[in-house]
Amino acid sequence: MVKVAIIGFGVVGSGVAEILTDNGAGISRKAGDPIELKYILDVRDFPDSPFADKFIKVFDVIEGDPEVNVVVETIGGVSAALEFTERALKAGKSVVSSNKELVATHGRYLLELAAKNKVVYLFEASVGGGIPILRPLSECMAANDILEICGIVNGTANYIFTRMVQDGIPFEEALRGAQANGYAEKDPTADVEGLDTCRKLCILSSIAFGWHLLPEQVPTIGITKITLADEAYADSCGMRIKLLCRAIAGADGSICPFVEPHFVSMKDPLGGVEDVFNAIKVTGDSVGDVMFYGRGAGKLPTASAVVADIIAAVRKHTLAGYQPWQENRPGDVMFAERFASRWYVRLAKGELTGAKKLSAHQVQGEESGWMTGPMTRIDLNAELEGKTVLSVIRVMD
Ligand code: HSE
Repeated sequence: MVKVAIIGFGVVGSGVAEILTDNGAGISRKAGDPIELKYILDVRDFPDSPFADKFIKVFDVIEGDPEVNVVVETIGGVSAALEFTERALKAGKSVVSSNKELVATHGRYLLELAAKNKVVYLFEASVGGGIPILRPLSECMAANDILEICGIVNGTANYIFTRMVQDGIPFEEALRGAQANGYAEKDPTADVEGLDTCRKLCILSSIAFGWHLLPEQVPTIGITKITLADEAYADSCGMRIKLLCRAIAGADGSICPFVEPHFVSMKDPLGGVEDVFNAIKVTGDSVGDVMFYGRGAGKLPTASAVVADIIAAVRKHTLAGYQPWQENRPGDVMFAERFASRWYVRLAKGELTGAKKLSAHQVQGEESGWMTGPMTRIDLNAELEGKTVLSVIRVMD
């Protein structure tokens, strides 16, 4: 009999409890051992919950109970989550997590700690919600040198773009919809400023390239400045605006990681990813392009990935967890400013020489939209010197 404790009864934690209960028989069969939810740790009270008899308020109970084999960490944030994860691993319990902030900052250390204690630390739900991506990337693509990762990994941002385009509603209203659906973080700043996407890129990159990329090494631009006018310009050239995370391997072993909104052609599979859906394209030197697609946020999709990790932890078929990551390599990060692209530029007034003028339905005053040829951001900034720039968005080619 395997006993599970959930720490943090928010959107994802409550989804895990629900799936463990509703799909219990199948989950136990697949794990090869009956699985029972024993504790739920939360500082809040849930007297009307169907799981009311399982709530506790102190972690010591879980830590000291030898019956608990797997701890599910769905608290989020770093401080308490790090302390409880360390204590659980040291007590010989496997930990399963959806916490991208914790993994992006301390993943390497926690994987090492798990291996030292002969348990596993798994975090499939930390990237792409319900999409199986980390284990396939770590195991099924292990034969490849990874050349590039390019993905839409924030459901909230993608939902906002879709609602702005399809319903013509402004940014703030679309964000409220994402919050109402349980997609956004408690503080949605991390979603709309790109930090959540940055953390997920760090996890993907660390697994793909084998060394720990840290969030502060990833130039990150969020989506708060995108307007309906930008969406209209994108539409006029058969494109959509998407918040992409990208990490491109250089021939010298360096990588160029960045997070920023992009114009993406609607003919590209990423251009057609709508609503809360995420998609991640991974390019391997042997296999070529592989696409992962599915619901990137929300209670049950994310809980589905957590529960799959519980089963994996019970079966211990990945005893060492993911391929281990080495320490950070600060000298191997290439700056995105030097990565050449075409650019969309919106000007309040004036022209942009050598660029193509775009048409849009909602042009105000003397505003105009332009598409440049390929150039680095450094060269683009020089071109824009002295002009009143309303928007600059990279184009994915
Ligand atoms: N706030 C996150 C998102 C939740 O919208 O993608 C899933 O990680």
